[in-house]
Amino acid sequence: MTAAGEAYGLFTSLTGTEPAGSWSAPGRVNLIGEHTDYNDGFVFPFATPHRTHVALGRREDGRIRVVSTFDPVPVEVALADLDALFPARRDEVVEWARYPLGVAWALLQATGADPASVPGVDLAFASDVPVGAGLSSSAAIESATGSALNDVWGLGLDRVAVARAGRTAENEAVGAPTGIMDQMAAMLGETDAGTFLDCRTLDAQVIELGFARAGLDLVVMDTRVTHAHSTGGYGERRAACERGAAAMGVPALRDVRPDQLARVQELVDDVTFRRVRHVVTENQRVLDAVRTLREQGPRAIGDLLYASHVSMRDDFEISVPELDLAVESARAAGAIGARMTGGGFGGAAIALVAHDTVGAVTDAVRAAFADAGFTEPHIFTVRPSEGARRDS
Ligand code: GLA
Repeated sequence: MTAAGEAYGLFTSLTGTEPAGSWSAPGRVNLIGEHTDYNDGFVFPFATPHRTHVALGRREDGRIRVVSTFDPVPVEVALADLDALFPARRDEVVEWARYPLGVAWALLQATGADPASVPGVDLAFASDVPVGAGLSSSAAIESATGSALNDVWGLGLDRVAVARAGRTAENEAVGAPTGIMDQMAAMLGETDAGTFLDCRTLDAQVIELGFARAGLDLVVMDTRVTHAHSTGGYGERRAACERGAAAMGVPALRDVRPDQLARVQELVDDVTFRRVRHVVTENQRVLDAVRTLREQGPRAIGDLLYASHVSMRDDFEISVPELDLAVESARAAGAIGARMTGGGFGGAAIALVAHDTVGAVTDAVRAAFADAGFTEPHIFTVRPSEGARRDS
């Protein structure tokens, strides 16, 4: 059954009624620009064909109830109580439900709407976005929830404001100190296009990727090594970036140019320097990738993708052996470019591959994983797809 059908089925069995509507939002693959978003820098993600679907119905008692195929035990709370729950008492909510309930809370906060002035809701979720694969299943559930509640509550927010509410939920209701890339990608994605985003101004340009026309496929290699950004490494990397910016006396690493790196090296310890160098060079690589794509087409961006991986592996130190092996074996089998994607410490790598080489690359990566004794990777192609929408 499709995820849309599952969400519908879950809703009708929960409530015994028909939903008022259904919405969906995608995951994202980041083509290039990693750990640049919270440094006010540039990113270039696209939306996946995998989506999280939500079926929604109104209720008369001012309560919100959420249920998901991952955990069929519904979670229910009065809208008026959300404010007491988040962020202070978020631990009382089962983790997955912090995403949708956190978005409801963030939307009420952002608009100043009185919880008594909006209808209660039942929300049933199902998703085919792989969880823990670095494809931002979290942004998918946040953006589906945000789009649905924005419509049903008549809040009139634009897509960027819904993305901001998703990020607030992730930061404060879930407690993951992430940037805004994933939510913007999920809200603004368009078919066969990437979203080139300035994370300081939130100016976004939708740029045609032209993979299919150039005879290319984008291959995702999910290593099945799971990660969580609410713990450990992600926050440490973010803190190192803040130290680097403070040492340079700028608001964010966005304001450090590549020709200033020698100065950074004089001011900070070696580890902090390498964290800064990743972000500063990665920002430049995003700008170069967008320009190269426009001037020469997607076949010309391969070296930038690989340079991004090397920088994450050696300077930012967020790769793992499985990601490195996926990247190296894809390249050795003829991929035009490859890199890990997302926050790191697990998840997926991507490879840009000529259509007739996809089979060879897939076989090579599988064989390399088997030889290394790693868990079999999940390998599939993705076509850049549409952002959040109402489906019915
Ligand atoms: C995670 C976060 C994003 C971004 C990436 C790294 O996906 O949610 O905000 O920081 O990591 O680029």
